[in-house]
Amino acid sequence: VTLFEPYEPEANRREPADVEVARAEPRDVEALARLVVQRGGLPVEDVRPRFAREVELDDPGHGLWVARLGGEAVAFARLAYQERPADCVPNHQPAGWYMTGVIVDEAHRRRGIARRLTRARIDFLLPRAAEVYYVANARNRSSIDLHADFGFEELTRDFHAPRVSFTGGEGILFRLDLRRRARETAGEREA
Ligand SMILES: CC(C)(COP(=O)(O)OP(=O)(O)OC[C@H]1O[C@@H](n2cnc3c(N)ncnc32)[C@H](O)[C@@H]1OP(=O)(O)O)[C@@H](O)C(=O)NCCC(=O)NCCS
Repeated sequence: VTLFEPYEPEANRREPADVEVARAEPRDVEALARLVVQRGGLPVEDVRPRFAREVELDDPGHGLWVARLGGEAVAFARLAYQERPADCVPNHQPAGWYMTGVIVDEAHRRRGIARRLTRARIDFLLPRAAEVYYVANARNRSSIDLHADFGFEELTRDFHAPRVSFTGGEGILFRLDLRRRARETAGEREA
């Protein structure tokens, strides 16, 4: 098990998977827990109750999306509104919406599933926010390419992100201008 998907821009691309993308529900908990365990995470007994709580969360500043294949969750992605505390360090990341992590089942990678989850979260935010952020390990080129396709741009490498450490590398803070994205996708529809 590797933390990051080996970076192979031109290889291993597969036919898109016909997934159903939706907000996570209690029936997804078991499959979600297995995805985290597969990535070398915690024991399933620890992960399961966390997902069980998360899918029941009634918090407008938090969202968990799943992609289901044949009714079974094979990927998930989160979106969370993160505050900037009044007494924080000067380079603390800005307040705003953050895309916080996407994991796709190893057996179903490179089938466009992370792209679908990213599009779903952007579409959710378009009427709600002017921008969205995302933080990546500089070594995670696959994830950086995935987000760059949507127009995410590097903002800085000098920032403090609470509760995040960048395994073996440097972190990058990216931002997507949602107003520009809305104009561009409207243009695409008219074209
Ligand atoms: C990164 C990850 C989420 C991508 O999921 P995925 O469903 O396979 O990605 P998609 O098929 O939607 O790919 C979308 C784009 O991302 C980029 N990408 C994805 N995997 C890649 C790889 N192995 N090498 C190079 N680029 C890659 C490509 O630009 C790709 O577009 P293309 O296939 O048309 O070239 C998945 O590999 C994963 O779960 N990795 C482990 C967890 C992780 O690192 N998550 C991200 C940070 S929290």
